[in-house]
Amino acid sequence: MASITFQGVGKTYPGKDSHYILKNVDFTIGDGEFVVLVGPSGCGKSTLLRMIAGLEEISAGEISIDGARVNDTPPARRGLSMVFQSYALYAHMSVFENIAFGLKLARVPKAEIKQSVHAVARMLQMEHLLDRKPPQLSGGQRQRVAIGRAIVRKPRAFLFDEPLSNLDAALRADMRVEIARLHKQLGATMVYVTHDQVEAMTLADRIVVLGPAGVQQIGAPMHLYDQPANVFVAGFIGSPKMNLLPGTLTAGGQVRIGGVELAWRGPAEAAAGGVTVGIRPEHLVPDANGAIPGQVLLVERLGAESYVHLAVAGLERPLMVVVQGEPPAAGASWRVSPVAGRLHVFDQAGLRMAPRHAAIDSTAGATGATEVA
Ligand SMILES: Nc1ncnc2c1ncn2[C@@H]1O[C@H](COP(=O)(O)OP(=O)(O)O)[C@@H](O)[C@H]1O
Ligand SMILES: [Mg+2]
Repeated sequence: MASITFQGVGKTYPGKDSHYILKNVDFTIGDGEFVVLVGPSGCGKSTLLRMIAGLEEISAGEISIDGARVNDTPPARRGLSMVFQSYALYAHMSVFENIAFGLKLARVPKAEIKQSVHAVARMLQMEHLLDRKPPQLSGGQRQRVAIGRAIVRKPRAFLFDEPLSNLDAALRADMRVEIARLHKQLGATMVYVTHDQVEAMTLADRIVVLGPAGVQQIGAPMHLYDQPANVFVAGFIGSPKMNLLPGTLTAGGQVRIGGVELAWRGPAEAAAGGVTVGIRPEHLVPDANGAIPGQVLLVERLGAESYVHLAVAGLERPLMVVVQGEPPAAGASWRVSPVAGRLHVFDQAGLRMAPRHAAIDSTAGATGATEVA
């Protein structure tokens, strides 16, 4: 397996309004690491993956695999396997032939091909499907074949571009677990593009959040959840989305949103201008004496939990609150409190502000640099 390093990588497409889609991408994917690239549609996730694969020219900087620069190495010589959202299988070939295809091209002896294909089919629990053709398979089975075809080539790293997006929710959950299991079993370096929160949070050793300005933050999933570096990451990681509210810092270092003052250990002298206050819906708890009073606009019951939309005086948009157990009735007056230590405050530039005397963040060092573009 292999490590993959980006140094000052940028991408621009030639054209009259040519601009950098990606700029100053700098990070290393460790040997055996599972790195997930997330970000809104069009932010350059596929482009970055295709640059690793060699399918897209690198406009600036360099990409190296195991320390060797690959900018000018053709795709076939990079030793990588890519799995796409569209399975890209040969419809007229059997599952066996589809999986064997790359090995056949590489003139691997027949007996060896047979052995390899069966080993992979066993790993993916599809030995019984080897004689079928893709049109006779379900979407999940087809994606399994595409993954099998990637594995059988024993690549130095796997590149996945939204491989599960075409599957329905239940199948996606199954395949997600399968991919996690494969990662463990193969110890393989995997780079995985998705816009699915759950896939990113559960599969990744580290998540790279891409935004309009390139790389927004890199870190372990829970690090991004607990300490988003900026408003963009705060709004992107977590579901339902974090409440992001216009606020101010008080002279005493508290924060004020609407007419409500909340405890925070901000700088003693109030910063000029406003801040953005972030509170995750799951970090607002029902509390008869809660600091935030409001009126329940709407309740969405999901079974185990409910989403409560709470109108708060002075706030333009209702607060989203996740409630376990019995939710309040629509129309009711209701109070909530933020969980201590769970307020996020961002300055006017949208960057995370550290509270005074914050404990040293012990997760950052262990999980790699936090980078803000
Ligand atoms: N061949 C191309 N020529 C010009 N622009 C392109 C080309 N391919 C992609 N783009 C642009 O690059 C940006 C990133 O695309 P992409 O990497 O596919 O985004 P993502 O995978 O994150 O949705 C988009 O704005 C897209 O329009
Ligand atoms: Mg894409």
